[in-house]
Amino acid sequence: MSRTIAVTGATGFIGAMLVDCLLAAGWNVRALVRSRSAHRIAEKPGLEAVAGSLEDGESLHRLVQGVAAVVHCAGAVRGAIAADFNAVNVDGLERLVHAALALSPRPRFLLLSSLAARSPELSHYASSKRQGELALAAMAEDMEWVALRPPAVYGPGDKEMLPLFQLMGRGIAPVLGERHARLSLLYVEDLCAAVLSWLNAGSCRCGVYELNDTQTGGYSWDETIAKVSALRGRRIIRLPLPAALLKLIALINVAVARLIGYAPMLTPGKVRELRHPDWVADNSALTAAIGWQPAFPLERGLRRTMGWGEPGTVAIERLPDHPGGTGERVNRDEE
Ligand SMILES: NC(=O)c1ccc[n+]([C@@H]2O[C@H](COP(=O)([O-])OP(=O)(O)OC[C@H]3O[C@@H](n4cnc5c(N)ncnc54)[C@H](OP(=O)(O)O)[C@@H]3O)[C@@H](O)[C@H]2O)c1
Repeated sequence: MSRTIAVTGATGFIGAMLVDCLLAAGWNVRALVRSRSAHRIAEKPGLEAVAGSLEDGESLHRLVQGVAAVVHCAGAVRGAIAADFNAVNVDGLERLVHAALALSPRPRFLLLSSLAARSPELSHYASSKRQGELALAAMAEDMEWVALRPPAVYGPGDKEMLPLFQLMGRGIAPVLGERHARLSLLYVEDLCAAVLSWLNAGSCRCGVYELNDTQTGGYSWDETIAKVSALRGRRIIRLPLPAALLKLIALINVAVARLIGYAPMLTPGKVRELRHPDWVADNSALTAAIGWQPAFPLERGLRRTMGWGEPGTVAIERLPDHPGGTGERVNRDEE
């Protein structure tokens, strides 16, 4: 069996961590890299970069040639209109699936979707992620596939949750959602461990799977703030931001983005996502399918992410036949 995994999105927050985890677990990685991001991919043993993009079908054929599996992490997470998201999250995905389907034997295919896909009516992003899942299911034929739906993922290199936690650590907590809203969270290494578990599980029922951390039922804003407060040993001032104010800021941001020419993160659709009362995910189907279980409660993930005490380590799942491998999940700092 091939030892090589094709990875897209390797220059992004989640993909970069995933590449390190795959290499540490003994897989070879072939990563799709856009020319504008080539400087962000370091040379590493076992890592091969393929220049290209999701718009360039020829590069996708080169990317997937002879691989055991495709892990599709690339995605558009910022944008103002539906086309900004659909061009990557639907059309780009379809091109990649097409390239994978041209192979014999067919590789396994993992799509990094999003919990947002559960509520596609909320935003162009959420809708594009749902459409991507549906396109994959419709196109896959006899190719084994799964779509993972992580909730908000945090960890080193994250540009969305990290600034919020940093601010909380300094004593101010902007509350962006409803007071009683609940959301699941996931530490990035747990997500990577889920991908490794899927690779190591010989096969898995095709379908869509949710993920969350060890906290069944998710967190309220107050519970999250209380955990940061306990970790930092300081009082944190809550700063509730009313929906109307967030919407106004989002509208101004979209207008400025159009003027200056950047892809906006805070949009009216993102505000609807932020104000949604239920982003609680459920691990049980994925755990039953591949045996993966999260290892990072929020406190542990935050300590690691923020450098609040725990030494940097990578949770890895070794290949059963990798030198010294047992197939067990290990943490380097626990070895
Ligand atoms: N972060 C979260 O909380 C979260 C939660 C749930 C699901 N997800 C999903 O996880 C995936 C990765 O998210 P992330 O937070 O790591 O995002 P990110 O940091 O913005 O990374 C996105 C990656 O996709 C690549 N990409 C975008 N458009 C591309 C194109 N047309 N062709 C080739 N590559 C392209 C980017 O390449 P460049 O470096 O060249 O721009 C980058 O490597 C996304 O699909 C997202 O929907 C994320």
